This record gives sequence, C-alpha cells and structure tokens, in this order.
Amino acid sequence: MRTFDLTNPRSCLILHVRNMGIEDRNHRLTIFERGKRMTGKSSKARHLWLNGEIVPWDGATVHITALGSLLNVGTVGEGLRAYWNADKRKLFVFRLRDHMERFDDSMKLQRMDRPYTPEQLSQAVVDLLKADGLLETSYISPRAFFDPFASGSAGPFVEDPASAQVMMYAGARPSILPDPTPIHCCVSSWTRQSDSMVPPRIKGFNYQNNRLAAWEAHINGYDNAVLLNSTGKVSEAPAACLFIVRDGVVITPTFTSGTLESITRRTLMELYRNELGAAVVEREVDRTELYVADEAFLCGTGAEMKPIASFDRYSLGTETPGPLTEAIRRLYYDILTGKNSQYDHWLTEVS
Ligand SMILES: Cc1ncc(COP(=O)(O)O)c(C=O)c1O
Repeated sequence: MRTFDLTNPRSCLILHVRNMGIEDRNHRLTIFERGKRMTGKSSKARHLWLNGEIVPWDGATVHITALGSLLNVGTVGEGLRAYWNADKRKLFVFRLRDHMERFDDSMKLQRMDRPYTPEQLSQAVVDLLKADGLLETSYISPRAFFDPFASGSAGPFVEDPASAQVMMYAGARPSILPDPTPIHCCVSSWTRQSDSMVPPRIKGFNYQNNRLAAWEAHINGYDNAVLLNSTGKVSEAPAACLFIVRDGVVITPTFTSGTLESITRRTLMELYRNELGAAVVEREVDRTELYVADEAFLCGTGAEMKPIASFDRYSLGTETPGPLTEAIRRLYYDILTGKNSQYDHWLTEVS
C-alpha cells in the first residue's frame, strides 16, 4: 500500500483519479484505488507566499463573502513539483522557470497586471519551500486572481487589471512514478473545451470540464478519462496529456487539440528524441487509434506518468507497461530525483 500521510495544505475539495483522492476541508484525504477507499490525515503547511511576502498559513484569510464573488475572481495558476534528492539530501524544483513563464502567459491571457517577473516568481517558490522547511517531494500551487473587493472594475467581468493578487503554497506530495501499474481509461462523453470557449492554453482554474469527465470515469469504474474535442479528435485527460505508441512511433495530440501546453509533454518528447532515439509525432489522433495503440500513457506534473492498459475496455494487450513507456518512466524518474545529471539544468536547488 502507498504512503498516504500527504501534507497537502489545500482546504478545498480536490479530485484526482487513481492514486490520488479527495481532500476535505478538515484535511482528511480519501484515496480511491481500484474501488478501494482509504482515508488518511494530511497536515497543514506553515506558510504561504502572498504578494511578495512569506506569511503564516493561518494569517492568510479571506472574508467568507469572497466566496460569493468567486465568479469574478478569474483565477489562473500553476502546478510544479520539487523532488527530494536522497543523495544530496536537498529538494530540487523541476523546470521552475518554464512553469513561471507559463504562469506569466496565463496572467497575460486573463488580462491581469503582472507585478512580478518570472524570475521573481521563481525566487518566490524557492523562498516558500525554504520557509516551510519541506524535506520531501512536494507540489507547489501558485495562483493569481482578481481581488474580489477591489474597486476599479470597468463593468461585470472587466476587473481592474491592477487588482491582480499572486499567492503560492506548497505541501508534500509523494511521487507515484515508482509504481508502473497501468490504469484503465474511458473516452469521456463530455467534450473538451476549446480555445474559442475557455482556452485550455490558460492554466486557469476552470476545471469543471475536467471534473465532469473525472467523475464520470470514476462512477463508471474507470481510473481516468480521455476527452475528445469538438471535432471528435483526442485531446487530453483531466489534468494530464496523452501519448500513444503505434508501430514504434510515439504520438501525442497537438496543442490545438484542446490541450494545455504541458511542460511534462515537452520534457518527454525531448527525452524520447534525444535519449531513446524514438520517432515522436505531434498530430491529430482519432478515437479508434486509442483502441489499436500498442502502448499509451498519461503525463503531467501532478499526474507524473501513468501507463494505460485499456481504453473503453479495449485492452492494449498487456497489464504491464510497454517498452517505450517503461523506458521513459525510468529515465524521467532518474532525472527528477537527480540520478541522471545530464539534465541538471532542469533542476533548481532549494538551499
Ligand atoms: C488540463 C491539464 N492538462 C495537462 C496538464 C499537464 O501539464 P504539465 O505537464 O505542464 O503539468 C495539466 C497539469 O496540471 C493540466 O491541468
């Protein structure tokens, strides 16, 4: 059984399918794993970073009426991981600058003023991790939102760009990468939102689309879902991108298929090309290609990498990850945990 003493500071409901769970506002974490339900206690972080200051966790409150203003909040954010390097006994944040640049893009697309540069935000992540003294693999959650009480709106949903607030918090979240057990996915009956509706390119906290698909998968006995876009092509899973392998070629849907511009996807494509000599193609993917794929897996910062054994109960032929999936899982884990120094430039030391 996995360790479930996660230190996850979030006090709102979160849902992750398979190997993750639902945390309630009392920090009780319920993990769903193939029909089993387990409950554990997670502890609170001590600090968060808010508009340039490290502040005590309990002091960072917002008035209850802000909840009624959430429609106006327009939150965008990021999700990063810092991995524990057992040899150096230090934490290293993975692709910190890339995540902060995407955070900057999300704020820009949401028409927020950007009071901090990606460089300053990168430093803020390091400061936060140091202040919290986290000594284990962790997840960092930066957020930017319009102050719901600020004056200066030009009208409904036209908030004052200068009212943008930035905060981030972190908590321990163990890696699931050492577990190669594949999952079973369905194709969701929900359609992935498109760039002309709620752009997936903005890492905005408009996760209702993902939530509907995740719940549908869970209720129907699957570990996760894959969504099709409005043209019927494969897009991504809730909070994870998708790769399939056909005849030795690694294939992933294009960014114009309704996917977030995933940093993990970019990382794995580079590793496939440079380290494994594999052919990698970004293109539209049909639903039926999922059923006849030789291998498949999901990837993302939080989701890390999860091999897939079937789609809609069409088996990919094996309950163990295929060779190109297994090779990238091992390589990726070694890089994240500092066992492959060739990619140290992707790691930022927290010291
Ligand atoms: C909707 C969505 N797609 C894909 C991903 C994977 O992106 P990344 O690899 O940058 O974490 C995420 C990550 O949270 C996500 O929320």
